[in-house]
Amino acid sequence: MRRRIIAGNWKMNKTVSETRDFVNGLKPLAADAECEVVLCVPFTDVAIAAETAKGTNIHVGAQNVAWAESGAFTGEISASMLKDVGAEFVIIGHSERRAMFGDTDATVNKRLKTALGAGLKPIVCIGETLDEREGGKTEEVLARQVKGFAEGLTKEDMEKVVVAYEPVWAIGTGKTATTEVAVETVKFVRSVLAELFGEVANGVRIQYGGSMNGNNATALMASGDIDGGLIGGASLKPEEFIKVIKA
Ligand code: PGA
Repeated sequence: MRRRIIAGNWKMNKTVSETRDFVNGLKPLAADAECEVVLCVPFTDVAIAAETAKGTNIHVGAQNVAWAESGAFTGEISASMLKDVGAEFVIIGHSERRAMFGDTDATVNKRLKTALGAGLKPIVCIGETLDEREGGKTEEVLARQVKGFAEGLTKEDMEKVVVAYEPVWAIGTGKTATTEVAVETVKFVRSVLAELFGEVANGVRIQYGGSMNGNNATALMASGDIDGGLIGGASLKPEEFIKVIKA
């Protein structure tokens, strides 16, 4: 059975003191959560989030990781630095990184291999734009992205990866994919994983992301094909985020 995983993606939000307050607020609310709960926070908040969440069921992650281990990479943060401050998870290849900061299938693959090598648990994002969906290219794009990030991975590697299917047109827009579209697309993604990794694909957790909140989460996850969510806007307040966790 695939254990559901609800991960908050705070993007570029919250200072250290806001992070401490958030985690202290979420702790009692999430104490009896049945799913795995993760907060992917800005680099500067990882240490305080991990320290404040210590001994609870709240796991902490970052939102990007360098492909190199150290050296002349101004502005980058390495996997060992993240582990050192308590990160357990890391988001890789979010569409905002792909669209605005030059991430490609190839760099996503390199970051992913580095994260796996360091023992970080990766959440790899894929998703089509509105133009691609309307142009009938969704499957082609997703197959390319999956094959791109999976290049050179072993079955053992793939077992450790969480995939987040996030249609770009649904991110931060309030336009969630219908349950039907989300389920159908996630099934397609799993079929591509099955082509590459056989049976292992059935154990891989595939989240949905894009304007998911406490109101639509139950419907999105009802079929059992979607194994959780990557939550942006609705993860910024404990009382909103807990609604998704409970759903
Ligand atoms: P959203 O963001 O929930 O605000 O749409 C999701 C994401 O970008 O991961």
